[in-house]
Amino acid sequence: MVGLLEDKDRIFTNLYGLHDWGLEGAKQRGCWNAVGDMLSMTPEWICDQIKNSGLRGRGGGGFATGLKWTFMPKVESERPHYLVVNADESEPGACKDREIMRHDPHLFIEGCLIASYAMRAHACYIYIRGEYVREREHLEAAIKQAYEAKLIGKNNIHGWDFDCYVSHGGGAYICGEETALLESLEGKKGQPRLKPPFPAGAGLYGCPTTVNNVESIAVVGAILRRGADWFAGFGRPNNLGVKLMAASGHVNTPCVVEETMSIPLRQLIDEHFGGVRGGWGNLKAVIPGGISMRMIPAHEAEEALMDFDSLAALKSGLGTATMIVMDKSTDLVRAIARASYFYKHESCGQCTPCREGTGWMWRVMERMAAGEADPSEIDTLLDVASQVEGHTICGLGDAAAWPIQGLFRHFRPEVEARIASYRSRRGSFPGATLAAAE
Ligand SMILES: Cc1cc2nc3c(=O)[nH]c(=O)nc-3n(C[C@H](O)[C@H](O)[C@H](O)COP(=O)(O)O)c2cc1C
Ligand code: SF4
Repeated sequence: MVGLLEDKDRIFTNLYGLHDWGLEGAKQRGCWNAVGDMLSMTPEWICDQIKNSGLRGRGGGGFATGLKWTFMPKVESERPHYLVVNADESEPGACKDREIMRHDPHLFIEGCLIASYAMRAHACYIYIRGEYVREREHLEAAIKQAYEAKLIGKNNIHGWDFDCYVSHGGGAYICGEETALLESLEGKKGQPRLKPPFPAGAGLYGCPTTVNNVESIAVVGAILRRGADWFAGFGRPNNLGVKLMAASGHVNTPCVVEETMSIPLRQLIDEHFGGVRGGWGNLKAVIPGGISMRMIPAHEAEEALMDFDSLAALKSGLGTATMIVMDKSTDLVRAIARASYFYKHESCGQCTPCREGTGWMWRVMERMAAGEADPSEIDTLLDVASQVEGHTICGLGDAAAWPIQGLFRHFRPEVEARIASYRSRRGSFPGATLAAAE
């Protein structure tokens, strides 16, 4: 099914915090129900169910969640297994995981237990963004409730010893990258590791580890309760399930909603986000999934579906499905220059193309935003962006290149016009060449 999700099919029934987020409220909404039955099945059975549901990672990359779990060793050795949950959510525009943690933390903790069992892990670490103070308070209180009710912990009622720890970050975006996150958890500087080895072989403290996004984990209990087929009944093949989606920017009612995968982007904006400010005709561009995806112009947004394949076909991506909507009043060049500053600021500096390239691209973007550039620099900038993309240790290099590529793919004439305008003004007074040379 593609289109508007019915209330009966919602997983996050307290998304807006209208009800009790604590244990009693969560149980009334069905959370923790049948977890004992789930854990009486084999870990392989759970992995198969998650595979069959079609769930793909909700942290941006979209890797198949059930498949990822099967990369963990099948037997426990002297090296313990770990589940690490990525609650860093530091990408500009992304704001969905926080709603789970502050309003439905028990769904999340329940998922941590089930996923840990499926990967034969007795401990889970949740790495939460440092600025999410209220979210952390709710999460820690909910974990305490779960311990007290013997839902988790040693000798719990579910029969799988399980400890859940919360650790918070210190404000660096790069700590959202899974291996930088592991370094940070270990108390070191948060810098991405070279892969291989992958975390399933050598992750936290060198032990088998799987890193998953909050939403990927929080939906697991509902999938097992309602069945893999139910989840797979939403969206298009390869893009299945329900998903939290959000909008910020120039929409009338920015918010987070749960919807079916593959819902038309325009329908999502019109039905849930109150439409574009000034009407659909006032739309200029959309960045579909957090700032790191390439933007798409209004005419493509009109046809796009909110899923991995549709947006990839438009040379963009679903990312975290937290879109940034920009109307015709937006100075796109200035907006992307600001994004470039963010990536320059957040680069960990480990690899040369990213460390040097992000700063270089930002400086050129600043001049482009002012118009103070030579038209030939556009091709040089795109060349540098393509040299950064795919040539770095982690995905931050790609994330820095893509917004710039998206801008020029669709709005190059706008930048060229700005440069031409600047140059015509510069030359319009006597002595301009001399002044420019000073
Ligand atoms: C620079 C950078 C920042 C990232 N930030 C996050 C983040 O805040 N939250 C997240 O879940 N994944 C983030 N990721 C993706 C993670 O590395 C990882 O792929 C993800 O947590 C896996 O979970 P999933 O398979 O459930 O999606 C980031 C990746 C990069 C390269
Ligand atoms: S791509 Fe950038 S952020 Fe990632 S490891 Fe290299 S320098 Fe660090």
